[in-house]
Amino acid sequence: MSIYDILMSPLEKRILGDLRRSLIPRARGQVLEIGVGTGVNFPNYDWQKITAFTALDLQVDPAARHRAPALVRFLAGTAERLPFADGSLDTVVATLVFCTVPDLPTTLAEIRRVLKTDGSLLFIDHVLPEDKKMAALFRTANRVWPHLAHGCNLTRGIHREIAAAGFSIAPAGSAAHQIFRWGVARPLIIGSNPENDDAQAKGR
Ligand SMILES: C[S@@+](CC[C@H](N)C(=O)[O-])C[C@H]1O[C@@H](n2cnc3c(N)ncnc32)[C@H](O)[C@@H]1O
Repeated sequence: MSIYDILMSPLEKRILGDLRRSLIPRARGQVLEIGVGTGVNFPNYDWQKITAFTALDLQVDPAARHRAPALVRFLAGTAERLPFADGSLDTVVATLVFCTVPDLPTTLAEIRRVLKTDGSLLFIDHVLPEDKKMAALFRTANRVWPHLAHGCNLTRGIHREIAAAGFSIAPAGSAAHQIFRWGVARPLIIGSNPENDDAQAKGR
């Protein structure tokens, strides 16, 4: 087990494990996971639904290679510039990555570009809590946290930024006093009425 996995183990047991188990099996078809890290999501995929799988990170972690099924192709690269054609992927997965990418709007624009119109972005991340006292605490902690945690940012409104990047998010949910948000985000079809998002999602 890597140091990352050991440090994350209490959070995985209490919160993240359940979120991963319910969200990740939705991945299907041509899949890209960005910021794959140690490959912690690998045991949760329904591999029978997946035809191709690329695992992208700044550097490939040996722990991920060790965990990966044969289908997985590893790629060293950055989420802000995805080496895929427009509209070529069915699913993009990003868990605990949007808190860290240096340029979140560019990353989301890239994900929207590479997804098929009926594709999905599956995400889990921590965000700035809604509660004012907790938010103030997070803002204070964020003065030092990114320096200790590889650029991880505690103050992003990630679910809002995903919506602002042209996605509808349904289903969606939160955990641990809304510190964690998860969702299935689908590219909004230009000209569609966001009030019809549910119908748009159900129709797929
Ligand atoms: C906190 S770890 C999350 C690992 C794993 N996805 C999980 O759910 O536990 C963040 C990961 O995102 C990767 N990462 C950070 N910035 C990135 C970028 N711009 N492009 C691709 N991966 C990035 C890091 O290298 C790291 O593996």
